[in-house]
Amino acid sequence: MSTLVIVGTHWGDEGKGKITNYLSADADVVVRYQGGANAGHTVVIGDKVYKLRLIPSGIFFPEKLCIIGNGVVVDPETLVEELDYLLGKGIDPSNLRVSSSAHLVMPYHIQLDVAEEERRGPNKIGTTLRGIGPAYMDKFARLGLRMADLIRPESFIAKLRRNLVEKNYLLERVYGVKGFELEEIAERYLGFAERLRPYIADTSLLINQAIDRGDKVLFEGAQGTLLDIDFGTYPYVTSSHPIAGGACVGAGVGPTRIDRVLGVVKAYTSRVGEGPFPTELFGEMGDWLRERGDEYGTVTRRPRRVGWLDAVILRYSARVSGLTHLAVTRVDTLSELESVKVAVAYEYRGQIIKDLPTDPETMAECRPVYEELPGWGPIRGSQVQPALQAYLDLIRRVTGVPVAMASIGQERTQTIMFEELF
Ligand code: IMP
Repeated sequence: MSTLVIVGTHWGDEGKGKITNYLSADADVVVRYQGGANAGHTVVIGDKVYKLRLIPSGIFFPEKLCIIGNGVVVDPETLVEELDYLLGKGIDPSNLRVSSSAHLVMPYHIQLDVAEEERRGPNKIGTTLRGIGPAYMDKFARLGLRMADLIRPESFIAKLRRNLVEKNYLLERVYGVKGFELEEIAERYLGFAERLRPYIADTSLLINQAIDRGDKVLFEGAQGTLLDIDFGTYPYVTSSHPIAGGACVGAGVGPTRIDRVLGVVKAYTSRVGEGPFPTELFGEMGDWLRERGDEYGTVTRRPRRVGWLDAVILRYSARVSGLTHLAVTRVDTLSELESVKVAVAYEYRGQIIKDLPTDPETMAECRPVYEELPGWGPIRGSQVQPALQAYLDLIRRVTGVPVAMASIGQERTQTIMFEELF
């Protein structure tokens, strides 16, 4: 058996799409286990650029089983759009399976996400407004509608009717916005149900059967460690578990079945939305890095905040996800620089600390302690210059985790493997 979980080590957008797509070539099954259409994966194949939000990037390989696990919240409209998008590009999505236990993102979740962000005003989280938080709230309040409900029209309508009483009350009386009509939602969603029915399955069973057969299974995390609901910079987090443990509950596999955990870390750090960011760069340097790295949201095109690599966070990610390997991405983005910085510790009220403080107030007061290294210049082929090697060695030294691969461009071929992962 061979299983690998891929996680983002910071706030998402580390380049997991490229790494997952690269490693998918060796996998038999690719699974998403949390999040929803808040994620945006860019996959470059030859001269074509694809953008996915829900469907695992393994879909580009026709023979792989691609799974949306029970831990994902699925917006059926987005999923149908994504299926059409792939079909329109000549990609056959028939190997996709969606967990019957995955919860649905409903129109009122999106409306509530918007209304709640507006109400928070200056304290807003900066969500993607995709209804993610409200959908997970319903899941944990035991009110949610699931994929299995979608294909049972009678019970779907009965549960929807019950939920709409409360949601419309909230929308209209608390937030002062328009509510939803039962018939309108029911008609649209039952239309989606017909499209999605062939894909709905007991995906935990499928994954465990694949592991039993000795198949290679890759679990693809969305977002990143510091957006985890428990281990992230709460409350500036998403409502799911992007850390490696999320793969177990979000896909229905036991922890004893996970062999390796690969942390994807970008050579610099970025974040979307609000919250503390100790190595954030402003002014000219920040603008240069944002442009050079094209750091704009895949889905929203929001400009991302950018900064130097924060290895304090990386060490923390290694701990909470039990990282066994690292993939360092966007090494090429920094190649023009004469020198690069990496935060190896923080200074907090006159003290040097090496462990990430978990509350955002303390983190906001932390000042990075940098190590500065010489830049590595342009990268030719898969040659690792001594300066780049020194940078990768620093990452290993600070985290204790070996670097298994480095990405030096968007293309599959622009990948340097130091160690086989499957
Ligand atoms: P939500 O997931 O839409 O509720 O947003 C919560 C926080 O997570 C916000 O700061 C978002 O910007 C951030 N977020 C959600 N998904 C992603 C992602 O795929 N990449 C980066 N940030 C994300």
